Amino acid sequence: MSLTVPVILGSVRADRAGIRAARFLVAQLEARGHAAPLVDPAELQLPLLDRMYKEYPKGQAPEPLERLAALYRRADAFVVVSAEYNHSIPPALSNTLDHFLEEYFWRPSGIVCYSAGQYGGVRAAMQLRAMLAELGTPSIPSLLPIPRVQKALSEAGEPAEDWLGRAAKKFLDELTWYAEALKTQRAGGTPY
Ligand SMILES: Cc1cc2nc3c(=O)[nH]c(=O)nc-3n(C[C@H](O)[C@H](O)[C@H](O)COP(=O)(O)O)c2cc1C
Repeated sequence: MSLTVPVILGSVRADRAGIRAARFLVAQLEARGHAAPLVDPAELQLPLLDRMYKEYPKGQAPEPLERLAALYRRADAFVVVSAEYNHSIPPALSNTLDHFLEEYFWRPSGIVCYSAGQYGGVRAAMQLRAMLAELGTPSIPSLLPIPRVQKALSEAGEPAEDWLGRAAKKFLDELTWYAEALKTQRAGGTPY
């Protein structure tokens, strides 16, 4: 089953390492035949949250929000790529996520976390898991943590270490299983 899986990146720093992880996930998903558009806050330039998408009169939201809403409505799952800033979620990520709510509903998410150090951003991932559940896109049990991200992935997102391809396969097998299951279930309607 071909799926649409936006890859939401959560860092806007000029020297961000997160783009490596995001490019890696986009390539892995595309190799499986899925559409995996990158949602890049550095490109979107969303302001700090003023109005959520749904708070604009219909058809009057800024163009990037309309574009994202259309993408999320046709999405089957989300891959959320998070750094760890002070053991927590990067502000660009929570700001990007907060602009939407209902558009996430009834779709699973998968958390890819990373850091410069050895823990791979898992402390932020635990907080992100709670946030994604509240947004209505519960995360799958497995994480894909990437420790020492600058060493593990090239700037183009090519893995330098064998374990990463194996870990990504298991993670995406699980995410796509949930995505296919919920896609089938959504076709029969949702509770609200
Ligand atoms: C504001 C800030 C806070 C950070 N806090 C943590 C942290 O709590 N734990 C950690 O492992 N690394 C931390 N780091 C280091 C990051 O893992 C590393 O800089 C990583 O590349 C950040 O992702 P980015 O380059 O995509 O923004 C922090 C980095 C920044 C900029």
